[in-house]
Amino acid sequence: MADTLTVIDNRTGKKIELPIEHGAIRATELGKLGLVSYDPALLNTAACKSKVSYIDGDRGILRYRGYPIEELAEKSTFLETAYLIVKGELPTTSHFRMWQRNITMHTLVHENLKQFIQGFRYDAHPMGILIAAVGALSTFYPEAKNVMNLESRRVQTRRLIGKMPTIAAFAYRHSRGLPYAYPDNDLSYTGNFLSMMFRMTELKYKPDTILERALDVLFILHADHEQNCSTTTMRTIGSSLADPYASVAGAAAALGGPRHGSANEEVVHMLHEIGTIEHIPELIKQVKRGERRLMGFGHRVYKNFDPRAKIIKQIAHNVFEVTGKNPLIDIAVELERIALQDDYFVSRKLYPNVDFYSGIIYEAMGLPVAMFPVLFAIARTAGWMAQWAELVLDEEQKITRPKQLYLGYDERPYVPLDQRRDGGALETEVSGPL
Ligand code: CMC
Repeated sequence: MADTLTVIDNRTGKKIELPIEHGAIRATELGKLGLVSYDPALLNTAACKSKVSYIDGDRGILRYRGYPIEELAEKSTFLETAYLIVKGELPTTSHFRMWQRNITMHTLVHENLKQFIQGFRYDAHPMGILIAAVGALSTFYPEAKNVMNLESRRVQTRRLIGKMPTIAAFAYRHSRGLPYAYPDNDLSYTGNFLSMMFRMTELKYKPDTILERALDVLFILHADHEQNCSTTTMRTIGSSLADPYASVAGAAAALGGPRHGSANEEVVHMLHEIGTIEHIPELIKQVKRGERRLMGFGHRVYKNFDPRAKIIKQIAHNVFEVTGKNPLIDIAVELERIALQDDYFVSRKLYPNVDFYSGIIYEAMGLPVAMFPVLFAIARTAGWMAQWAELVLDEEQKITRPKQLYLGYDERPYVPLDQRRDGGALETEVSGPL
């Protein structure tokens, strides 16, 4: 049997045979029939070949470079996983030591970047600060534009993974009017982050080891997730050969939307709004009437349990032993139970995703809600950089430039301004999308 697909254009009778490779046909082949493929939101379009992460959405499987997420969450650390994602293999002991040193030596930021962050209003959302500050980094490292240079790519990757926690913590301290706490490179990646967030007057901050580990596991779970919205943005910006700081700023902006990495923030707001278990049925009714979405539920790829959500649910109990139980967990567990018995959610295969329980843990750890998407961005930087490097080196890739189906006017004559009639309507009353 041939690995081909035969397509007949019934308008003309013309027949073409498209090769099938890796379970895909090349959409450009359809050009031979004068056709394009129309796929809004790219639901059934592979736009790249990748070796970073693998998802089987029906079976609830996620692997980074072939390693199951459950095993990494149990046995690895975030920095080791970041190495795996970026380099493709788990490090040896000496390579890991070098990697750790290379990341920690980049934790400081230029003092002018600190001043840049200080320029934001006291109530600026930390995600907005992060996006702007990461974008601004390209002005500090103009050599980052040499995207085809291996050494440059390596340095920018270490810098970004090293500096994201610092920028994130500075954004938080800014919102609290607290002096910024500088990195402590004796601590682990997440220990240092907690220190920069919460250190007060003590000379040395000692992170709680259980919370430090819980955050580390959460970072592992968020490190990559194949061609999601923010990673696709990273690749799209990167395809113009923009520098990686610009690309990460764009990726973070995409992550900041409530359908993506800000859903964890929305989940906690929603659970607070529900308040007590008795109010859950009313919320479910609103969701089923299509008035709102059940935040933290549903996924484009997972049509079964999101494996990350299962792991997070387990971590919650370790965290609560230190912090005391976050009462939101009872509402969340009951909400999940009710939803998973309801035909609306069952028939649409809507299960809890990574964001459903993560926010509850972050909140119990004292991390403010507005910081949740920022935490996601810190961890996802490893994945963004790995995917970006793959794109830059992929000889099949070019600047991203999709087609459109033009449905607007045909050519029409220009009417001079003084001859156009508005019937007395104000500009804001004219119907249209803007
Ligand atoms: N609550 C209620 N209904 C939902 C939900 C939800 N959370 N998610 C999807 N649906 C319904 C949707 O209304 C549609 O129903 P119908 O067929 O009757 O029109 C059906 O399920 C399919 O939804 P869709 O919008 O076509 O699915 P999608 O693949 O485009 O959306 C999603 C995926 C994650 C954007 C969506 O499930 C959602 O908005 N979830 C809530 C936000 C959220 O938790 N996002 C975090 C995603 S995981 C972290 C990350 O990687 O960003």
